[in-house]
Amino acid sequence: GALPKEVDGYLFPPGFEPDSAKVAYDQIEINEDDILIATYPKTGTTWVVGIVHQILYGDNPTDLEKYSTLQFFFHYLEFGAVCKYDVWKKLSFPRQVFATHLPEPLVNMKKFKANGAKLIYVIRNPKDQAVSWRHFVKNFAYTKSEFWKPFFPEDEKEFYDVYLAGNQHAFAKKRKGYLECIKEWYKHKNDENVLFLVYEEMKKNPHIEIKKIADFIGKSLTDEQLNNVVEKTSFASMKKESEKTAPDNNEGAQFFRKGQIGDWKNHLTVAQSELIDRKVKEILGDTDIEFIYE
Ligand code: A3P
Repeated sequence: GALPKEVDGYLFPPGFEPDSAKVAYDQIEINEDDILIATYPKTGTTWVVGIVHQILYGDNPTDLEKYSTLQFFFHYLEFGAVCKYDVWKKLSFPRQVFATHLPEPLVNMKKFKANGAKLIYVIRNPKDQAVSWRHFVKNFAYTKSEFWKPFFPEDEKEFYDVYLAGNQHAFAKKRKGYLECIKEWYKHKNDENVLFLVYEEMKKNPHIEIKKIADFIGKSLTDEQLNNVVEKTSFASMKKESEKTAPDNNEGAQFFRKGQIGDWKNHLTVAQSELIDRKVKEILGDTDIEFIYE
């Protein structure tokens, strides 16, 4: 059904399954070559998955991609039904690249660490994240269903008011959201095998940030290879590629919209923008995080 599901007080939007999250936590095998890309939705997940893929495999599809048109369904630890893990086990991977939107306490970080896997966490400024989220969920049928409708008002201003109050059940506890999730993950900032990335820095300096990613996952790229990855993972290239190949299997999910910094200025009210500033101070004020808004 499309009602919200809950684990330890954390609420999951439809499609994301507590049972799969639990199998991922308890059962999946993690190896030292594996990479987990953890993010809150709409902060650059697809981009970083694409970069890691280009660095590791270039244009070659992995086994997963050859056999499944539902890549999205497989990549995310907690997305889709548990039986996907039966298929997963049968595929051969040189290296597993997982993604997750789960809050930190629901990911078995002990196992990832003990087994030497790598974690990449991406953050993006919360104003652009909110705008990206609204445009993304607008296309989902569930947001128009009787239960969910009140949580996803059509009116833009109302939508952000509900979202910023933490009432859309998006991977956080009631009345909490993106900033609390960052806070939970940020405790790994200086751990071994962990790389924190900033969406806006990737936008501004793709060569530097992509080289950082390549170094982190143990691949040295020539200048030519690096230029190639930058070009192949630009917003324009990835969008174009997705239009060629992506089957429409996610209820019209759009992973490539604008890909810019600062679109929030066209969508949030001054009061909403100031509310975010206050929340950032309150929730992340004791960290060294400084979001880039333009
Ligand atoms: P916008 O809606 O602001 O355009 P996620 O993959 O975590 O769902 O994040 C999606 C956001 O990342 C969208 O933001 C999308 O356009 C942006 N994005 C996707 N690929 C990108 C790329 N190659 N370069 C820059 N931004 C990208």
